[in-house]
Amino acid sequence: MKTWSVPAFVRIVEVGPRDGLQNEPGEVSTDVKVELIERLADAGLPAVEATAFVSPKWVPQMADHMEVLERIRRRPGVSYPVLTPNLKGFEAARAAGATEVAVFGAASEAFSRKNINCSIAESLERFRPVAEAAREAGIKVRGYVSCVLGCPYEGEVKPERVAEVAAALFEMGCYEISLGDTIGVGTPGKTKVMIEACARRVPLERLAGHYHDTYGQALANIYASLELGVATFDASVAGLGGCPYAAGASGNVATEDVVYMLRGLGIRTGVDLDRLVEIGQWICGVLKREPSSKAGRAIAAKRKH
Ligand code: HMG
Ligand code: MG
Repeated sequence: MKTWSVPAFVRIVEVGPRDGLQNEPGEVSTDVKVELIERLADAGLPAVEATAFVSPKWVPQMADHMEVLERIRRRPGVSYPVLTPNLKGFEAARAAGATEVAVFGAASEAFSRKNINCSIAESLERFRPVAEAAREAGIKVRGYVSCVLGCPYEGEVKPERVAEVAAALFEMGCYEISLGDTIGVGTPGKTKVMIEACARRVPLERLAGHYHDTYGQALANIYASLELGVATFDASVAGLGGCPYAAGASGNVATEDVVYMLRGLGIRTGVDLDRLVEIGQWICGVLKREPSSKAGRAIAAKRKH
């Protein structure tokens, strides 16, 4: 029988306030965003991606990025990464007090063009000065690769292509590479092949899984990644989100579901599941939608009885 060593601790990067809210059709006030970020950090999440310093013409939902980052009460020990696609975004993020930023590339040319209006090679050239400026300013940089298990425009994406982009980001100074199944098409076997390809170019402990749940495979893909030793996963409270440039993509895996599964496996996350469920219920009330977390719905229903 195959045995595997369960990581004792998994770090969850909460991306709901950014990946979730960037795709919500309704207006969300800055006050609600600030409260959401603060409550998530208070519930024990070690990292809460706060906003995106991108063009408000491209993603109007993140237009209040300066105010959000300036206003949040920062909990000691918690990081609040923000997306920065270029130097303009980086400078604005730094002025607002960012201590961690994230650059975001793709393993698919077509997606790169739709998302950030340039080729993969051009995107890497744009990220390099961001990484350099961040290093000089003592700001940490995370790197994303999108479409790691499929592209809405190109279909199949080769694991070697993902690994190449991941390696380029790592070599320019990203401390961690988050592997995004942007449209949630991946299945566990393919996820393993992709992670193994990346781990040949980037140390495994520097890889994170960022799985959207469009086809209901995200938890299975996390489990498959855990089996290989990946110990950082991105997730979104109540499963909020999607991607404005990937039609049909649903939200990230719900944080509640991830915490519930990991707790059952005896893996610590530091997250208070009950508080998280309350936050999911609250933000979904504001957004007038149902939480897509099954664990969240079950726990909330049990509480009512
Ligand atoms: P562009 O039009 O090629 O940029 O957009 P440009 O340099 O030609 O500038 C055009 C205008 O944008 C100018 O303003 C610039 O000042 C402004 P104008 O003169 O027209 O008034 N501009 C900016 N404004 C604010 N912040 C900036 C910035 N840069 C330029 N940083 C750009 C290129 C990258 C800016 C644009 O394509 C963009 O903002 N894209 C954002 C796309 C995005 O946010 N997508 C969602 C996040 S990625 C994601 O969700 C995937 C992920 O979750 C992982 C996964 O699931 O796979 C991370
Ligand atoms: Mg995403």
